[in-house]
Formats: sequence, structure tokens, C-alpha cells
Amino acid sequence: MGRKFVVGGNWKMNGDKKQVTEIVETLKKASLDSNVEVVIGVPAIYLEYVQSIVPNTINVAAQNCWKVPKGAFTGEISPAMIKDIGANWVILGHSERRTIFGEKDDLVAEKVAHALESGLKVIACIGETLEEREAGKTEEVVFRQTKALLPAIGSNWDKVVLAYEPVWAIGTGKTATPQQAQDVHASLRNWLSANASADVANAVRIQYGGSVTAANAKELAACPDIDGFLVGGASLKPEFVDIVNATQ
Ligand code: G3H
Repeated sequence: MGRKFVVGGNWKMNGDKKQVTEIVETLKKASLDSNVEVVIGVPAIYLEYVQSIVPNTINVAAQNCWKVPKGAFTGEISPAMIKDIGANWVILGHSERRTIFGEKDDLVAEKVAHALESGLKVIACIGETLEEREAGKTEEVVFRQTKALLPAIGSNWDKVVLAYEPVWAIGTGKTATPQQAQDVHASLRNWLSANASADVANAVRIQYGGSVTAANAKELAACPDIDGFLVGGASLKPEFVDIVNATQ
């Protein structure tokens, strides 16, 4: 069976109650391709509200969570809390978490392991910086980040989506070319075949993220190893609908 296209909208730290309501209203009115899985990544404070107003065809994700169920971790939320309000997904290891908040591979892996144990599905983000790409280290970095996740994921690959997001393409308007993205996705799939299993490599969905817009989504979506998108800025705009429908 083919890999179901999966499009995530990562709202990051944007929106207020009025705006998040409007975004959901736009999605409700739109004709979204029913063959595409849609997951919106909502700021923690609006998770319960957005979960209560989305139709059941739209999944809600937290943008982060901590690595244990509860305790003295001021400011954090747990997978159990995310599940408690009815959401089923979490985005982990986003490059902004890695670069701004100093999350290293091992912490990301601990979070992924606990989120999966708790019954959440995970969008796990990986990707190289511009410096790393220019030094010819793209594959080394992406393989290292993915390797750290292997024990955390174990046999739960069906609950994981990988998001390849070259850091230099995030929020910069500088999209990876379809060929650049396809090349990394294909080598990641080969690496997974050798280091996880051929079945995992075949089945896992790999999203591309980094300045995806309605204007470039179709061409990217046509690449054989691109199975969806993780969209930042454009997920706050009506064009997100066209991105979801990019394979039509
Ligand atoms: O999670 C989404 C990515 O960081 C991409 O953000 O579409 O604004 O470049 P962007």
C-alpha cells in the first residue's frame, strides 16, 4: 500500500484566539483532499480550544512535550496532558527547539520515546544547517539525528512521521529545490533500509519542510520520496488548503 500523504501545519508561536478560530473556520469550509492526513501544530495554550472546534478529519498536534508523565517541570506539558485534552500528535525535535532551546539528539530521543509510550503519534524533525550543508555534511547530520531516534522508536515506526527540514530553508523564503529535497529523502530512505529495515524504509512517511507555499508545493509533492509537508508560515494563511491539496 502506498504512503498516505501527510501535511502538517506548524503554527509555531503565532496567532491569538480570534486568528486560530479563523484558521480552523477556513479549514472547515475548504474542500480538503480526503486522501491526505492533516495535522495542525497548535501553541500549547490553544490546544484544548482548537481540539474542541476542529472536525474529526483534522488532527491536532502539540509543538513540544516533556519526557516524563508529570512532576516538578515548570512550564512543561506531558504527553499524558496532550492526550487528556483529546489531541493525538506531537511535533518533536524541531530545529527551533534544537537551536534556540538547545535540545540535543539524546533529549529529542527521550521525548520521542516517552511520547510514543504514552500513545501519541510523533512528527520527528531532522535537518542540517546552512553551514553543515556547505561543508558537505547534510547526510552525516541527518543520519546522526535519525540514528539517535532508532532505539526510541523501536517497533513504533507506524506512529512516526519524519520531517526533513533543512534549517536554511525555514522561514527564509529559500526552499530546497525539489531535487535537493528528493535527494535527501531518498538517501534517508536508503539509510533506514540498512539501519532499521526495508519495511520501515518503504512505509515511513518523510515530510519536507522549509518555505513550502502554494506556489512550490505541487512540484515538491511530485517527488517520489516526498510524502507530505511540514508547513510553517503558510499554514497560517488560506493557501494552506492548496498545500494540503497539492497532490490533486
Ligand atoms: O515546521 C515548519 C518549518 O519550520 C517550516 O517553516 O514554512 O515557515 O519555512 P516555514
